[in-house]
Amino acid sequence: MPARSIEQIRNLCKRRGFIFPGSAAYGGLGSFWDYGPLGVEMLGHIKRAWWRNVVYERDDMEGLDGAIITSRKVWQHSGHEATFSDPLVDCKKCRARHRADHLTSNVCPKCGSTDLTPPRSFNLMFQSHVGPVAAEVGTDEELASRVYLRPETAQTIFMNFKHVQATLRRKVPFGVAQIGKAFRNEITPGNFIFRTREFEQMEIEFFIKPPQFVKDGEKTDEQWHEEWISQRYNWWLSLGVDPSRLRKRAQDKAELAHYAKATTDLEYLFPDFGWGEVEGVANRTDFDLSAHSRDIPEADLARLKLEKNADSTETFDYFDPEAKARYIPWVIEPSAGVTRAMLTFLCEAYHEELVKEPTPAEVDPLKVEIDSAIKNAQKKAKEAEKLRAESRVPSPGSTADKAAGDAAPGTRDTGPKHDPVAIADFVAKLEEMKGRLPASLLEIDNLLEEHPGAQNLEPVKKLKPKVNKLAEDCVRVVLRLHPTLAPIKVAIFPLKKNEPAIVDIGRRITKQLAPFMRVQYDDSAGIGRLYRRQDEIGTPFCITVDFQTLEDNTVTLRERDSMAQSRVKIDDLKHMLMQRLHLA
Ligand code: GAP
Repeated sequence: MPARSIEQIRNLCKRRGFIFPGSAAYGGLGSFWDYGPLGVEMLGHIKRAWWRNVVYERDDMEGLDGAIITSRKVWQHSGHEATFSDPLVDCKKCRARHRADHLTSNVCPKCGSTDLTPPRSFNLMFQSHVGPVAAEVGTDEELASRVYLRPETAQTIFMNFKHVQATLRRKVPFGVAQIGKAFRNEITPGNFIFRTREFEQMEIEFFIKPPQFVKDGEKTDEQWHEEWISQRYNWWLSLGVDPSRLRKRAQDKAELAHYAKATTDLEYLFPDFGWGEVEGVANRTDFDLSAHSRDIPEADLARLKLEKNADSTETFDYFDPEAKARYIPWVIEPSAGVTRAMLTFLCEAYHEELVKEPTPAEVDPLKVEIDSAIKNAQKKAKEAEKLRAESRVPSPGSTADKAAGDAAPGTRDTGPKHDPVAIADFVAKLEEMKGRLPASLLEIDNLLEEHPGAQNLEPVKKLKPKVNKLAEDCVRVVLRLHPTLAPIKVAIFPLKKNEPAIVDIGRRITKQLAPFMRVQYDDSAGIGRLYRRQDEIGTPFCITVDFQTLEDNTVTLRERDSMAQSRVKIDDLKHMLMQRLHLA
């Protein structure tokens, strides 16, 4: 079974160095994240897998890496400055901010108040200025130096359509792929890295003939659209996503972006919040290339609802040597999020297994200690409530970001040492989990470690190491990542770290494999624990150097998923691993 909650993934990511809250030492910054040593490896693997699939394995694609900061004119003429906005409402009572189109009724989902401001349009683009500017917002001087951080990578591909086509002598149909950062000042970021304000995209703009130039036997725009939808769908499956949790959903007319004739979303069934878009495949017609072109006939401007572009020096047309005609190509755009893909693959790969059933003699004393921790927590909550009433300490913060739950754990409570609301939540969770012991061992372990309500409670501090030890002994967390995506490919352990001959061979194998794959040498614990640690981060293979190695030059190779072990000659290791890791 894949992850049951986003919390499991968030905990794992923090515990094992995939993802950390951004600006954590200063209380975190709303929904910005830093990718740690394992996260950066995994992001790199996702991007390479995509690039290989859509650029190297096709003969009709080129690559590009455009600038993040682009002229304001780009976003004026693309339509983003006028329309890339969400309707925002504020709750006048608790000050929470919501997207009006996400509200199911005229009631604040946070506090239940009906006293909401009327919706107003909030543009999602981050802006800055090039060079020193002292002018007021909206003046000619300010507007002349204003730039936007791109909210999609697509526009730099349109800007470079002619450059790529001419320099690489490409004929339509062909496409351009780009991977890079995009920025959106989202009103309600959240669900960990699902919706963030800084993220990364993998986008393709695939240029095709306009419908009136398509000859018999050639693909129409609708057929190209269908082909890309199924190509992209299959890519997600090829990297281990189960088809029961990936679906294609055609957007209805009201959902379509201003540039799209049709869009099909690929959606993954996430824990907690259900189906969520991981990639959109849009038919953008000739909208964008026309929007950025100087000379477009009136009839086409009217069809596309565009104003004449007097700012551009370019017309993004193409001379088709077979049709002997010039036209503005149409565009099919598959657009996926790298960081959202990472969340998808992590959710899909996450598995917890009870490898050893703890005995009643181990579980029962824990239950007793949990009960006394709960009692103590309730007492502290009451005391804190009283203190709060006496000193009128305000409730903890209520901004939209905190509502989204993405502040660093332990950094949210700006009130007194014990926050009654956080403690009540902690107690409710702990009670529920206690009822599911021993299956919930790991959840309790995470709860005690991370929950802000648990931070300052003395009995929790005593309980923590006991739960942690039992969880480590009994529960195996395994990330069944596709080998291509695994951050560490092979871990190497010496059976005895004070046996120089064994250590020597272990280090030699590490050195031999390191140029070809990410390897990790580890002698910091017993073999069982080392295996468990690697399972948790999805390492497909572990190698143990033992006493038999000294006799016959073989090592133990252990597979993550089956836990099967076999003896392999050291001389065969590299070739075999390269093949099984899809590196050869
Ligand atoms: N150029 C088209 C475009 O940008 P989109 O549906 O807005 O279309 C494409 O975004 C993909 O980018 C989404 O499917 C998602 O994977 C990713 N994405 C969009 N907004 C995001 C956000 N705030 N945080 C993380 N990923 C996001």
